[in-house]
Amino acid sequence: MNHALPDVPCYLNGEFGPLAEAKVSVMDRGFIFGDGVYEMVPVYGRRLFRFDAHMERLERSMAKLRIEAPMTRAEWLAIARQLIAAVPADDQWVYLQVTRGVAPRNHVMPPDIAPTVFAYSSAAQLLTPEQRHRGVSCVTARDFRWERGDIKSTSLLGNVLARQISADAGAAETIMFRDAHLTEASASNVWIVREGALLGPPKSEHVLEGVRIELLRELCEECGIGFNLRPIAEDEVMSADEIILSSATKEVLAVTTLDHQPVGHGALRGKPGPVYARLYEGYQRAKLLQSI
Ligand SMILES: Cc1ncc(COP(=O)(O)O)c(C=O)c1O
Repeated sequence: MNHALPDVPCYLNGEFGPLAEAKVSVMDRGFIFGDGVYEMVPVYGRRLFRFDAHMERLERSMAKLRIEAPMTRAEWLAIARQLIAAVPADDQWVYLQVTRGVAPRNHVMPPDIAPTVFAYSSAAQLLTPEQRHRGVSCVTARDFRWERGDIKSTSLLGNVLARQISADAGAAETIMFRDAHLTEASASNVWIVREGALLGPPKSEHVLEGVRIELLRELCEECGIGFNLRPIAEDEVMSADEIILSSATKEVLAVTTLDHQPVGHGALRGKPGPVYARLYEGYQRAKLLQSI
């Protein structure tokens, strides 16, 4: 694995400079407590995809943690555009992070401190054609994370532990269940297909409200595919016709093996299914039409 930092500029508290040289205080509450929020916004052809939806979620996450918005959407947009312009690749991922800021160590939220604001953009690490063509393997685990998965927090230790379960098994993601019901994966939302409809768990504090949830609702409507958010029992996942992951970096991705068993039925067993194929196609159209 390559651990070299990308040779790109970053934005930190009002200034631009090389990412590898940027420094924050060791007393930053992001470092001490994981007290911060973040976003990952995909960029296609140098244009930001669903930027407003990512900003809305960032604002929601900050409000839930009582971190005051450090700047306006227009200011974020200007910073993102400047970072994108400095990266050679046309397809990129913009990472934005706001922590509560620097203060003496105390769990209580200190009033009136300035948030630490950080952002950079780097070349997108696209999935291989092989992963697109064959789909990926996943494993399952109990969802042992905290009960505020709705906040896109930099406190990601639960997600890191969850992801490592699949990494150790050579799999792409860890699909999690709480009380025998589907929540999400370590860094993706999870969908199943049954009787031709796309089903995902309802919005709750156990699941991040992925920006792709509304996008998939729109794509299903466009394609005439049923769409429903409702509690999904573990055995419905195990016997689904298709399983699909969604995230900013994976777009939509077919899961073709779950816990070493092929997903699906009949001739399509273990292969990406027809609903995935239509959603992937729709997603590619949306990228062209909806990036700014
Ligand atoms: C835990 C978790 N759930 C879901 C998602 C998908 O969200 P989005 O579609 O906004 O990338 C992510 C994205 O990184 C995530 O980390």
